Amino acid sequence: MVNQRATNVTWQDGEISREDRFNIFKQHGATIWFTGLSGSGKSAIAIALEQVLYQMGKLSYRLDGDNVRLGINKDLGFSEADRTENIRRIGEVAKLFSDAGVIALSSFISPYKSDRNEVRKLHEQADLKFIEVFVDCSLAEAEKRDPKGLYKKARAGEIKNFTGIDDPYEAPVNPEIYLRTDKMTLTEEVQIIMDHLEMNNLIPSAKNQINAAISS
Ligand code: ADX
Repeated sequence: MVNQRATNVTWQDGEISREDRFNIFKQHGATIWFTGLSGSGKSAIAIALEQVLYQMGKLSYRLDGDNVRLGINKDLGFSEADRTENIRRIGEVAKLFSDAGVIALSSFISPYKSDRNEVRKLHEQADLKFIEVFVDCSLAEAEKRDPKGLYKKARAGEIKNFTGIDDPYEAPVNPEIYLRTDKMTLTEEVQIIMDHLEMNNLIPSAKNQINAAISS
């Protein structure tokens, strides 16, 4: 929990509403929060989803653990406190993106339930959608994939506090979307998320688009 330091600061509203912004792209801003072990497939799904949304003319933006840690969060490591601060900051950034009207695709291990729940609360208090996607994959499979060779290093003791090896991962209990990347194809996974977005009216459904086209 970070306390408010600055005093004498107040929120300033502009003349353009969130709805005005959402209307520009005919989409609702939202945060899709991918959580799971390193190598579980979070980034791969976000990259594929971004392509599909782009083809539909929908604006999304990927916020990715490795990328963010090279920039805004370059001062943070992997202690429990640093991971919490990593998620807190990026939760705030994702909220700004979704308020702007963008579909924020956030891929972070985010191993602690309480940190993810804080981000959820932040969005709910602002009346913004937070969609938690549990990218589940057995540790054995993630370790077999080992795309960056980091599990090998962690097993050799060259990386300390590596999630799943000598650091915890707390799985979500009630995520909006549950994917098993060691059992599903990428196409199936993206389809499940797209169905969820359509069903929740975050992007127009194909049926609504047909109705709108025919009635105009
Ligand atoms: S989080 O725990 O704070 O959410 P984040 O998703 O930003 O982690 O970063 C995880 C990425 O950092 C991993 O995919 C991996 O490439 C790299 N990494 C380096 N050291 C560690 C570590 N000790 N534990 C987990 N990931 C690590």
